[in-house]
Amino acid sequence: MENIIVYGSQYGSTRRYAQKLSEQTGIPAVSYKEAPVLSNRKIIVYLGGLYAGGVLGLEKTMRGVSLRSGQRLLIVTVGLADPNEAENQNNIRASLQKQLPPTLLDRAKMFQLRGGIDYQRLSFGHRTMLKLLYQSLRKIPPEKQTAENQAFIETYGKQVDFTDFNTLEPIIKEINTR
Ligand SMILES: Cc1cc2nc3c(=O)[nH]c(=O)nc-3n(C[C@H](O)[C@H](O)[C@H](O)COP(=O)(O)O)c2cc1C
Repeated sequence: MENIIVYGSQYGSTRRYAQKLSEQTGIPAVSYKEAPVLSNRKIIVYLGGLYAGGVLGLEKTMRGVSLRSGQRLLIVTVGLADPNEAENQNNIRASLQKQLPPTLLDRAKMFQLRGGIDYQRLSFGHRTMLKLLYQSLRKIPPEKQTAENQAFIETYGKQVDFTDFNTLEPIIKEINTR
């Protein structure tokens, strides 16, 4: 049984993390769009960009998958929000619960990484969505903003990149246990 890294990435930051992880572990990485077969894998590592809380491609990839004993699932999210903030971690966990059945979620090990955004490169749809979000959040006084929304307002319209390949270390460790 082979291991596999599957990634869902729109603008490239998740793909770059997946490719680096592949280099460092020797596990092949493929996009979820290639619909890789998962049933015979020993370790499945899923990396997905966060889009309005959802993990890109995760639901589609894991639909109908059930883990046999001995099979392992690692789920890695890549987003703008700082994963060191407890509030952001809770949001990510809550949205994962909407995307995966408890049978899978209970078996999964979760990791959160930080990506980036370049507003110049966004699709028209994404740009419009974030503009509307920005306009509505700006009406809330700063002292009432959540940390995540405050960070979003500060980086709105800019190019930021929090990618740090050193943050893959705990994931590599987890892959190499047992
Ligand atoms: C429309 C849109 C919605 C987003 N929603 C979230 C979000 O809910 N939480 C978060 O942490 N980051 C969010 N982001 C930021 C992306 O997760 C971040 O840019 C990530 O690096 C994208 O990965 P990718 O480059 O692999 O597509 C959003 C970005 C866009 C464009």
